[in-house]
Amino acid sequence: MKKAVILSGAGISAESGISTFRDSGGLWEQYRVEDVATYDGWLRNRALVTAFYNQRRKQLLEVTPNAGHYALVRLEKAFDVHIITQNVDDLHERAGSRQVLHLHGELKKARSTANPEYIVDIDGWELHEKMTDPQGAPLRPHIVWFGEAVPLMEEAARISAAADFYIVVGTSLAVYPAAGLLHYVPPYVPKYIVDPKEVPAPVANVKHLREPASTGLAKVVDELLSKRS
Ligand code: APR
Repeated sequence: MKKAVILSGAGISAESGISTFRDSGGLWEQYRVEDVATYDGWLRNRALVTAFYNQRRKQLLEVTPNAGHYALVRLEKAFDVHIITQNVDDLHERAGSRQVLHLHGELKKARSTANPEYIVDIDGWELHEKMTDPQGAPLRPHIVWFGEAVPLMEEAARISAAADFYIVVGTSLAVYPAAGLLHYVPPYVPKYIVDPKEVPAPVANVKHLREPASTGLAKVVDELLSKRS
C-alpha cells in the first residue's frame, strides 16, 4: 500500500471552532508565548499556564471534527495514511484516523516534571496546579513548549522520507523543526498544500489549493483515490 503522509497544523481545526495561532485574532495575539508556552513561564506562574491549558481543554470538549478531518479518514480506504500533526487537540483521532503522531504533545495528557516517561490522561478538562506524580513531582501539561526539544521529530522525519504523497494542511510553516519536515520528502513525491493563504514551501512538485481544509482536502483525497482506481 502506498503511503500518504499529512502534516497538519492549527488551520485544519479552525472550521471546528478552535483558534489558530498566527491568523488575525489568533491565540498569539491574545497571549504572550513567553508567559504561557515556555518552561520558564510555567516556573514563573504555574497558575496562569495551568489555567491557559485548562481553557483550551475545556474548549476542545465542546467541539467536533470537521469535514477536513473526515476527508483524511476516507484516504485510509486505499492508502497507508500517517498524520503528523502539530496540533495538540484530538480531532484527527475522534474523526477516526488511526496513525497520528503528535509532534507538539497532547492537550488531554499531563506528564511528570521529574520523569518524562510518566504520562497520564487528564480526566475531563481540569489539570489542577497541585497535581503530582506518585513521587510528588508536579505534573505539567504534555505540551512541547517553545525552546524545548521535539522528541518525536526523528520519527516524523522518517515517516516524511518514506512518503509516496505528501499533504500539508493548515500550517503557516513558521515553527521549526516541524516546518523543516518538507525537506525530508523526496523531490519527486507529489506534494499538496491546502491553505487559504500563501505558504512558503521552497520544494519541488507542489500544488497549492488556496482554500479551507474542508473543501481543499476533499478535492485532494478524491484526486488521490481516483489515481488508485
Ligand atoms: N483551512 C486550512 N487552513 C487554514 C484555515 C482553514 N479553514 N484557516 C486558517 N488556516 C491556515 C492559516 O492560513 C495559516 O497558514 O492555518 C495556518 C495556521 O497557522 P498558525 O496559526 O501559525 O498554526 P500552526 O502552523 O499550526 O502553528 C505551528 O506554532 O505556536 C505554535 O505550537 C503551536 O503547533 C503550533 C505551531
